Order: sequence, then structure tokens, then C-alpha cells
Amino acid sequence: MRVLSVIGARPQFIKAFAVSRELRTDHDEVLVHTGQHYDEEMSDVFFDELGIPEPEYNLGVGSGTHGQQTGEMIIELERLVDGTEPDVVLCYGDTNSTLAAGIVASKMDVELAHVEAGLRSFNREMPEEVNRVLTDHVSDFLFAPSERAVEYLASEGITDGVHFVGDVMYDTLLWAREEAARQSSILRDLGIEGTDYLLATVHRPRNTDDPDRLETIVSCLAADPRDVIFPAHPRTRKQLAEIELLTFAKRELTLIDPVGYLDFITLQANAESIVTDSGGIQKEAFFLDVPCITLREETEWPETVDSGGNVLVGADADAIRDALENPPVSASDAEPYGDGTAAAEISRVLSDESS
Ligand code: UD1
Ligand code: UDP
Repeated sequence: MRVLSVIGARPQFIKAFAVSRELRTDHDEVLVHTGQHYDEEMSDVFFDELGIPEPEYNLGVGSGTHGQQTGEMIIELERLVDGTEPDVVLCYGDTNSTLAAGIVASKMDVELAHVEAGLRSFNREMPEEVNRVLTDHVSDFLFAPSERAVEYLASEGITDGVHFVGDVMYDTLLWAREEAARQSSILRDLGIEGTDYLLATVHRPRNTDDPDRLETIVSCLAADPRDVIFPAHPRTRKQLAEIELLTFAKRELTLIDPVGYLDFITLQANAESIVTDSGGIQKEAFFLDVPCITLREETEWPETVDSGGNVLVGADADAIRDALENPPVSASDAEPYGDGTAAAEISRVLSDESS
């Protein structure tokens, strides 16, 4: 099959590492980067260190309002689909790049494959929830990372084309764990000895764009006696500057630029606890069996909470402090996200379809 894969944001590069590797053995893949993320440390670093194929096209869309960003992607992707005539458009997750791919494929009557289908936070105020629901509803192949995702789809009347394949980020992590141990020097670079540190990331608009929430989170982290490694997403750095918290954050935390994947995996694997509002990081903490304190009220990865190893604390100061003092401990060895062969399964399903 000729597969046009659309990626654009940091976690999608990490997912594409596993999937492109498999797709390129059995299919003809054209990789398109929308340009949603463009800073060196938000984009190029992943292609360089993971050896992801260089995208055949970069749409260079960049940042903007939701309408501007998604609209420009739609215009450019439509041209590209017209010119490259793929059998299937494949997209990942829940970003604006995902939605743009979904709209273009469905309107141009090209089959659409959605990797990470069926996830739900049930919070429609999150742009990601809107993106994933809409994309699922126009997809022909729905690659679900968990059985629960399959159930959510069924509850919305979607059963055709649904395949439980497991989570492609687990595929990437299995490869990266050994590679990170071999290659990463981040602990030495940051002067970290032992595991007596916290790793924190924040980037959800609900946290970054609400000054009270952002201040509460940063104050709780600053009050912890341990070193806090905080690789700041550009959105977060901008907002910290905006509300005049950047100097405080730089003084109280180890505030650094975002790091490459192998460095980030190393920081995660060795941390005492992880504090985050990221989707992917909740899962990686689960795979690495590191306590995860999630700065959100709900999650699209509920299995991580069910395991006992992840706790949802929102931006509630008491709940954050309590979780920092009494970190959640996983009491389960369940493997709800497959066995690390999700990418191969995706490629196989597409092959079966074309034969
Ligand atoms: C996006 C996704 C989110 C995902 C996240 C992964 C949407 C709606 N959101 O959020 O689901 O979890 O990516 O990290 O698609 N910026 C830069 N340099 C960059 C990229 C962004 O400075 O390379 C700044 C810009 O000021 C931009 C802001 O970050 O306006 C937000 O970027 P954007 O891609 O719109 O959303 P994210 O918050 O990154
Ligand atoms: N990540 C990284 N460097 C960082 C922060 C995160 O490589 O400085 C990786 C992390 O390991 C995970 C992914 O980026 O694989 C998560 O991306 P993000 O939190 O931006 O998005 P989300 O998963 O919430 O959509």
C-alpha cells in the first residue's frame, strides 16, 4: 500500500519511529511533517537520534490559533494527497495535525488509519479530546492501544475497522531503554548522582494558561526538598515569563530546555517520581514502573491509574504535596497496552487489506 503518514508534534515523532520502521518493510511510505513543532529540541533532535526517515515533505505550518494552524494544514495536505495519491492516510494521536489529516482523508475519499484510536478523557474542553473523537469517527482503520479503547469505540457505535494492536509508544520504549543506557549522558551532564530527584513536565493549556494553576504547580515543586528537573516546553516557558514566574522557577528548579528522547527516558527511568500533565509520559512512567503524579483531573490512560502507580492530583496544592510525600506505588503487573509489537500488527493489518 502507498501510505501517507502525517506527523507534526513531538510525541508523534516518537510513535512514528516504531511504525515507519515496520511500514517501510512491507509498504511504500511517504512521511509528511506538518511543521506544528519546529524548534530543534522539539523536532530535529528526534529524527537525528532515532534515525526516523527524513520526511519527504515538511509543510512548515508552525504555530498559530487552532483555526489558522489546522486550516493551513488542511490546505497543504489536500494538495499533497492530490499529488501523491496514497491508498491510505495514517495519523497519530490527538493533535491538530491528526485532525487535519482526518478531515483531508475523509473529504477526499482516501482511507484513513488512526493510531491510538478510542482514547477518551471525557473532557471536551481539551482540544485533544475533540481532535481524537472527530478523527475516530471518520477513520477506516482504528488501531486501539488497549481493550478499553475498543470498548469506548463500540459504545459510540464504531466496530468496523477496529483493531486492538497495543501501544506503539511501548514498541519505541522497548528499543530506547537499552539505547538510552548506552548513549545518554544526561545524568552526568546535569550532575545528578543517585535517584533523589523529581522529573517534571507541564504543557497542557489548562495548566499553562491558568496563572493560578501554573503558580500552584511551580510552588509545590519548588517547596519539595529534592532537586526538580524541569525540561520546559516552549509554551510553558513563555507562560512562566508572562506571569513573571520564570526567574523564580529558574532559581528554585533545574529548569532546562526540552531534551531528546533518549535523555528523557534516562531521566524518567532514574527519577524518584515523575510529575506531569503529559499523556505519553504517564504511560512511559507506567512502563518504567516509576511513580507518576498527574497534574490533571482525568486521563485517557486510566489503566495507569488502575495499576496504582499513577495518581490524578489536578492543580490542587494539598493533593500534589501529599502525592510527593506518599508516591503512588504500582501493585499490578498487568500489561494493558500489548506486548511491544503494535507497529508490526498495524503493518500486517494494512497488508491483509491490500492483498
Ligand atoms: C501540541 C498538541 C498536544 C500535544 C503537544 C505535544 C494540539 C492542539 N496540541 O500542544 O496535544 O500534547 O503538542 O508536545 O495539537 N512552540 C514553540 N516551538 C515549537 C512548538 C511550539 O515555541 O517548536 C510554542 C508556540 O508558542 C506555540 C505553543 O508552543 O504557540 C504551542 O504549540 P502547539 O503546537 O500549538 O501546541 P502544544 O502545546 O505544543
Ligand atoms: N519527551 C522528550 N523530551 C522532553 C519531554 C518529553 O523526549 O523534554 C518525550 C516523552 O518521553 C514522551 C513524549 O515526549 O515520549 C511526550 O510528549 P508530550 O508530553 O509533549 O506530549 P503528549 O504525550 O502529552 O501528547
